[in-house]
Amino acid sequence: MDAPVDTLHRPLRELRISVTDRCNFRCPYCMPKEQFGSKYHFLPRSSLLSFEEIHRIVRIFASLGVRKLRLTGGEPLLRRDLDRLIRMLAEIPQIDDLSLTTNGALLTREAARRLKEAGLQRISISLDTLDEEVFQAMNGVQFPLRRVLQAIEHAAAVGLAPIKVNMVVKRGVNDQAILPMARHFRGSGQILRFIEYMDVGNSNDWCSDAVLPSTELLEKIHPEFPLEALPSNHPGEVAKRWRYVDGGGEIGVITSVTEPFCEGCTRARISAAGMLHTCLFASHGHDLRAPLRSDAPDEQLRQLIGGWWEQREDRYSALRASQNTIPAKIEMSYIGG
Ligand code: GTP
Ligand code: 5AD
Ligand code: SF4
Ligand code: SF4
Repeated sequence: MDAPVDTLHRPLRELRISVTDRCNFRCPYCMPKEQFGSKYHFLPRSSLLSFEEIHRIVRIFASLGVRKLRLTGGEPLLRRDLDRLIRMLAEIPQIDDLSLTTNGALLTREAARRLKEAGLQRISISLDTLDEEVFQAMNGVQFPLRRVLQAIEHAAAVGLAPIKVNMVVKRGVNDQAILPMARHFRGSGQILRFIEYMDVGNSNDWCSDAVLPSTELLEKIHPEFPLEALPSNHPGEVAKRWRYVDGGGEIGVITSVTEPFCEGCTRARISAAGMLHTCLFASHGHDLRAPLRSDAPDEQLRQLIGGWWEQREDRYSALRASQNTIPAKIEMSYIGG
């Protein structure tokens, strides 16, 4: 099979793999503690794809066109010996961009150094505010802000650049933090990205009133720090790029709700248990773990995956406004955003 394209002519270019469904935070918009409490059943270890299984799958996806790979969670740094997996993945020749999305809680200087040495190229760190009280409420476990700021410094010190700082903006919760965050990260070389609060999963009581449209957000920043648009780095890039006119660096906005970007979406996602999802908002997936564990040869897996991609019709965000009944979706912590 040649590199597949889906029913909307989109090739398969990027893969996001969740390496664990667990997280040490309980952000109310993702894993509210009322639902993800001590009685919650996380996946047992035997259900998780092993590093060898992940490596094999990525090799097969690379042969179908994947060039960008991102590891996610839950919180990916909770997976023991993650640097061993990164070392294995970094050796796959076609993968030219290997990155990770983390909350930063476990990113000590030593951990950052080990990830970099293993071959990790870039990192995105989530941070929603610079207000200690709001931050503790938003991470759900009273994790101190200082430690995430230090994690960003550690990542910068070992050269995991460019670092992206992901801020999910919820109106009435952390929109006060937009300007302080812009001021803090201007001139740092780190790229702050403002993410519209999305209706992912079924747990977060999403309501459109809590979405701050990116146009409104840019209007808040522009009077203090004039901005101008930058071209995308590559087709299908999630964030729209802006630069400070005075040379203070770059920011991004992720407009999944107000300006969906499904037409350029070349991403597949694999959950920690080995389900392939062709959309962040999918309500079902394709099981890769069963054929992997039944000794299917590479070519058979390749045909399966290519065939699934060719059937793909997903464009959830583009259709969101016109949908009145929405089926149950996969939880964000299963597929890592
Ligand atoms: P880069 O490779 O640096 O461009 O990373 P990224 O922005 O693709 O990844 P990251 O994990 O930092 O995600 C940032 C935000 O974009 C998160 O809130 C993701 O859930 C969201 N996001 C990523 N891909 C998609 C997508 O295909 N659809 C939608 N709706 N949101 C996405
Ligand atoms: N809407 C938008 N972004 C979200 N993230 C988690 N939940 C949501 C949501 N409901 C972000 C995280 C992380 C990235 C992987 O997804 O903050 O930065
Ligand atoms: Fe954990 Fe990230 Fe979800 Fe917060 S958003 S609970 S840090 S996986
Ligand atoms: Fe891709 Fe689905 Fe996101 Fe649209 S909503 S950009 S199809 S993952």
